[in-house]
Amino acid sequence: MTDSLLDRVPVIPVVVLHDLDHAVPVARALVEGGVPVIELTLRTPVALDAIEAIATHVPEILVGAGTIVAPAQAKDALSAGAQFLVSPGTTETLAAAMQDTGLPHLPGAATVSEVLRLLELGYSEMKFFPAEASGGADFLKSIGSPLPHARFCPTGGITASSAASYLSLPNVGCVGGSWLTPADALLDHDWDRIVRIATEATYLPS
Ligand code: 3PG
Repeated sequence: MTDSLLDRVPVIPVVVLHDLDHAVPVARALVEGGVPVIELTLRTPVALDAIEAIATHVPEILVGAGTIVAPAQAKDALSAGAQFLVSPGTTETLAAAMQDTGLPHLPGAATVSEVLRLLELGYSEMKFFPAEASGGADFLKSIGSPLPHARFCPTGGITASSAASYLSLPNVGCVGGSWLTPADALLDHDWDRIVRIATEATYLPS
């Protein structure tokens, strides 16, 4: 298993969880479908408890915290049991807080200058967010030649249909997306549907 967050699975499921009871079944469904990674966004009151529940009860999945937008959240996520961190954008304070946890992390960038700044800070892997709104696969294709050392996990507006156009690029290791865990599937406790969507995602090019 590589240390790179970008090379584990073609798709990192980005999950916005409102009900703590959904945490373990969702994680188990993703594992069953062949996607042993989950990013819980810190956008809901139950997110940290969900990370803790998954880390405790589904040890076979790599559980991370997304939407790290304030330095204190990095430490909170570590304490909850997060194994990786993702931020939608980056300030130096935020990058330092994520580094202090010792966890692998993907800082966010959306422009050439932001990518350059992250390269200066020593990062070669980053999140490209919001991917579709910031130029999509065409943007990443365009910066591949001048900035060949930057590799990306694009996220934001990506679907099962558009994922392959990103994954075919040499500077994309994986994509992130919430399409694997649709809100209605969570509400209906339709874990089999999540298994099916995850299984389909494993056939994406990696
Ligand atoms: C994220 O935090 O990475 C995005 O909100 C996920 O974007 P999506 O919901 O458009 O997949």
